[in-house]
Amino acid sequence: MGKAVRKAIFPVGGLGTRFLPATKAMPKEMLPVVDKPLIQYAVEEARAAGIEQFIFVTGRGKTAIEDHFDYSADLHHALISRDKHDLWKLLEPTMMPAGQVAYTRQPEPLGLGHAVWCARDLIRDEPFAVLLADDLILSAEPCLKQMVELHGKVGGNMVAVMDVPREHTSRYGIVDPNPGAASERRLVEVKGLVEKPHPAKAPSTLAVIGRYILQPEVFFNLDRQERGAGGEIQLTDALADLIGLMPFHGVRFEGRRFDCGDKVGFLEANIAFALERADMGSQVREILKSYCG
Ligand code: UTP
Repeated sequence: MGKAVRKAIFPVGGLGTRFLPATKAMPKEMLPVVDKPLIQYAVEEARAAGIEQFIFVTGRGKTAIEDHFDYSADLHHALISRDKHDLWKLLEPTMMPAGQVAYTRQPEPLGLGHAVWCARDLIRDEPFAVLLADDLILSAEPCLKQMVELHGKVGGNMVAVMDVPREHTSRYGIVDPNPGAASERRLVEVKGLVEKPHPAKAPSTLAVIGRYILQPEVFFNLDRQERGAGGEIQLTDALADLIGLMPFHGVRFEGRRFDCGDKVGFLEANIAFALERADMGSQVREILKSYCG
C-alpha cells in the first residue's frame, strides 16, 4: 500500500547546548557511543531499512559530519601501507557511494520542522524517513526497518512511539491514540498529536521518538512556517494538521531507546552498547560491579 521509502533526512542543525563545552567546536551527532559516532548508527540503521538517498540538514560547525562520510585518501594510504586492512574495513560503512548523499544547510536552528522543510526540494514528491541521531535504539531488528515493513502495509504518516513516565510528557510530542484496535499488533492509530503537553493535559503517555516516515504533503504545512511550542517550527504541529487526511500510525517498536541528547541518557547508551560487545562486555561488567559494590 505505501510507496517505497528511498530517501532519509538526518537533521543535524541543532546547537547541542546540553553538551557544551563538548559541542563548542564538534557536532553533538559526532559524539561516540563506544567507538562509533551517533550519526553513523543512524546512517547504518537507514541503510538496513533500504534507504538509498541520505540527506543531511546541517548548520554552523557541522563540517566534521561531511568529512566523516567521505573517502579519505590520506587515511587509506596510511592504513594500507601499514598493513592495517582490518582497520580500513572498519571504515567501509562511513563511505557513501557517489551521488547517494546530499548536504543542505539550515541557516538558523529554527526547529525540527524547519530543518525538515529545508530538505523539501531534495525530497520532492515521495515518502521519506527522518532519523534523529540523538535517539539511539538498541534492537535485534533496526527500528526504521520495522517501520518500513509496517508502512508498506498501511502507508500514510508514521512515527515511532514509546511509553514515558507521565511527568516527562512535556519533553515530547505526545500521541492521542484511537482506542480501537489497529490492523497490526505494533500499530497505534493516531487521532491527535500535541507537542510537549503539561503532564496534566497530556492525552496519553505515548511519546514520539526520533524516527518518522512521512508523506511529502507535510511540506505544505511547513511552508506556513508557523511557530509552536518554545517558539520553534515544530514537525509535530505540521503532522497534526494532516490527521484525518491520510492514515497516521504510531509504531510501538521492538527495542530499547536511549536519549543521547541528554548526558545521563548518553552515558547509559555507552554502558548498554559496551555490555553488548564481545570484545569488552565482560570487562565492562566487572568494572561496573566494582563501582556498585
Ligand atoms: P534537540 O531538540 O535535541 O536540539 O534536536 P539540539 O539543539 O540538537 O540540542 P540541545 O537541546 O541544544 O542540547 C533534536 C534533533 O533535531 C536537530 C538536532 O540537530 C537534533 O539532531 N535539529 C533541531 C535541527 O536540525 N535543527 C533545529 O533547528 C533543531
